[in-house]
Amino acid sequence: MDRLVIKGKAKLEGKIPVSGAKNAALPIMAATILTESECILHGIPDLTDIFVMAEVLQLLGVKVHRVGDSLMINAQGMRNNEVSEKLMRKMRASNLVMGALLGRSGRFRVSYPGGCAIGSRPMDLHLKGFRELGVKIDEKFGYIEGEAPKLRGAEIHLDFPSVGATENLMMAACLAEGTTMIRNAAKEPEIVDLQNFLNTLGARIIGAGLDVIRIDGVRKLGGGEHRIIPDRIEAGTHMVAAAITQGDVVVTNVVTEHVEPVVAKLREAGVTITEEAGGIRVKGRRPRAVDVKTLPFPGFPTDMQPQMMALMTIAEGTGLFTETIFENRFKHVNELRRMGANIKVEGHVAVVKGINHLCGALVEATDLRAGAALVIAGLAAENTTIVEGVEHIDRGYERLEEKYRAVGADITRVSVS
Ligand code: EPZ
Repeated sequence: MDRLVIKGKAKLEGKIPVSGAKNAALPIMAATILTESECILHGIPDLTDIFVMAEVLQLLGVKVHRVGDSLMINAQGMRNNEVSEKLMRKMRASNLVMGALLGRSGRFRVSYPGGCAIGSRPMDLHLKGFRELGVKIDEKFGYIEGEAPKLRGAEIHLDFPSVGATENLMMAACLAEGTTMIRNAAKEPEIVDLQNFLNTLGARIIGAGLDVIRIDGVRKLGGGEHRIIPDRIEAGTHMVAAAITQGDVVVTNVVTEHVEPVVAKLREAGVTITEEAGGIRVKGRRPRAVDVKTLPFPGFPTDMQPQMMALMTIAEGTGLFTETIFENRFKHVNELRRMGANIKVEGHVAVVKGINHLCGALVEATDLRAGAALVIAGLAAENTTIVEGVEHIDRGYERLEEKYRAVGADITRVSVS
């Protein structure tokens, strides 16, 4: 169990590079199951979640070999369609193999992924879409089994633009007979990246990034090479770190339109943001309080809500946070309160009254983004902050403390037995 020790009142100055997007890499790694040919993926971040997805693939009989930030994946020898309870509990995103297993072999058996700190994380939208593609679903003994002798194209309307459901259905529909339309599809950039990868393998998909995605089923997919898009949530996290420390940082390897919702909100709070020097430059100052409502892309991303709340704890004024995506994503509030933050929570709404400065404290990361928010808060706080539960942060951030130390933060990782 590691912890991060952060001496506060840092001012971040310099360039922070962004790694490849975890939430693009995970579905794309799952999609390699659809073909018996080799796939080469570049820009794969070195994260725990990526390691777990590689483990899931290897247990299915897929060959996965990492060279630097590239993965060589070959699913020709795949001989299993089951994901164990242990792995599903380790990482919910293991459920992203369901659609690819259906497309490749017509069946899957996965255990119900546990809920997690931010919510119950049901899969009803995935299963409803699979049934419309002709899949017989059995749910028993904590496992879900899907069986489809023949996948047939369908008209699917998602009740909610679920990212994972959209991705699973795209993968299953690729090799279905006929055309599938996914309406009210998720529009996140990671969906577009998955479409681009699948089309590289020979799939016929159009519309990703829009409300309706059309997939014309093909008989077989080949291999291909693909570079993963940069991680827009990591980029946004670094922008907030620059803002809260009143620093001057250029975040590099960013796709501007992917971070537009976060840039707009930071500008509304009075942060100076310009595009220059091959990246996005952020010059911090004490922010004005702003209201934040999380929504599906292109709305403000739920994965940036904890980090933005950390910034608002020291803003001038009072900000209102409304979390509309997950039912329990305010676990960071109690930890920020331990640092002196003035936050009141009523259901899905948190009222954040800005104070002059946070004070260092011993705090606990409960999930990936809450952990990032506590690191950011610690950078700006008086005295020393100790963040425990760093394993949550390592799921989605590549060597975060090294990236911040390189731009002036006093932050060290301490291993605690
Ligand atoms: C993806 O999760 C991301 N994970 C999450 O990032 C992100 O927070 C989320 O999308 C929303 O943007 C990956 O891409 C691996 P959803 P996913 O299906 O696909 C409900 C991070 O920090 N829902 O869009 O699980 C669900 O309960 C992680 O990197 C159903 O009700 O998100 C939630 O309230 C955290 N039924 C909402 O929809 C379903 O069948 C959004 O879920 C599916 C989802």
